[in-house]
Amino acid sequence: MQTRITELLGIEHPIIQGGMHYVGFAELASAVSNAGGLGIITGLTQRTPEALAKEIARCRAMTDQPFGVNLTFLPAVTTSDYPGYIRSIIEGGVKIVETAGNNPKQYLPVLKENGIKVIHKCTSVRHAFKAQQIGCDAVSVDGFECAGHPGEDDIPNFILLPRAADELSIPFVASGGMADGRSLVAALAMGADGINMGTRFVATKEAPVHENVKQAIVAATELDTRLILRPLRNTERVLRNEAVDRIIGKEKSLGDRIRFEDIVHDVASVYPKIMLEGQMDAGAWSCGLVAGLIHDIPTCQELIDRIMTQAEDIIRRRLEGFLSRG
Ligand SMILES: Cc1cc2nc3c(=O)[nH]c(=O)nc-3n(C[C@H](O)[C@H](O)[C@H](O)COP(=O)(O)O)c2cc1C
Repeated sequence: MQTRITELLGIEHPIIQGGMHYVGFAELASAVSNAGGLGIITGLTQRTPEALAKEIARCRAMTDQPFGVNLTFLPAVTTSDYPGYIRSIIEGGVKIVETAGNNPKQYLPVLKENGIKVIHKCTSVRHAFKAQQIGCDAVSVDGFECAGHPGEDDIPNFILLPRAADELSIPFVASGGMADGRSLVAALAMGADGINMGTRFVATKEAPVHENVKQAIVAATELDTRLILRPLRNTERVLRNEAVDRIIGKEKSLGDRIRFEDIVHDVASVYPKIMLEGQMDAGAWSCGLVAGLIHDIPTCQELIDRIMTQAEDIIRRRLEGFLSRG
């Protein structure tokens, strides 16, 4: 299948693995890229630019296919050395960067000068349009269904994607709630050029996270995520657990008086405990509604092959069949 995204990124299938804190290590990124998608290393999970340089080199040793690096510009507890991370990306020969969070404008010139394609992930049509205006090569349109930060507008992909298609001329992928061939065909039908998946890729054999995390996703249904941090205008979709119930309790009792310090214990620095040690109640962690569609833990190759086979089957048989009847 060829779309503007496969052509732009030089990949076989229009499937991207979004950057994920403490999940997007070289093992997962290389497995996705080797299976014909685009794997992405999460820049900020590496504590320093030097550590990111090593992770890029590790990934390069595991795949000869294109892969990218995610740079997330979010209100973090400490400010990160973004110029240093970008230096590691350039020197590591990475040609694709996924930006997320704030507007990446100030870093675009240096990325462009070095021949790097920028996919900006955003949750609204106005931000997607802005990304196009400032010169991003593509956008990842992240609907309300998504794991992590869905923004504050709450527009699901059934509306967001066709709206994006109406406004954008650059390629875009559908992100949030994507799991299988049905998602891919639906995304293409709504004007997208491919899909970006997060939660689905966590529940794969190669994702280097604790087995408890994968089992929690398989066990979860579409009813098991919650939105937290909305009063701080930094909404995050997470899997419900003890920490999340505590956060929601504080949000209710403190109302508008809530400050980041009130919940910091349950959100800051919790990812290593959850993802690496499997302490599933250690804090809040991103998970999408799509958990309801995830029932197994395949390899990335099995998952991507299955998505492409199912998508082709839907297009050739189901959809074509509707037209040829009668
Ligand atoms: C565990 C986890 C951690 C994530 N961390 C990040 C991150 O650090 N930066 C980012 O841009 N997106 C992050 N995301 C969001 C994904 O890249 C992707 O946009 C999202 O998962 C898409 O929704 P889906 O899970 O329904 O596929 C994370 C998602 C998950 C599941």
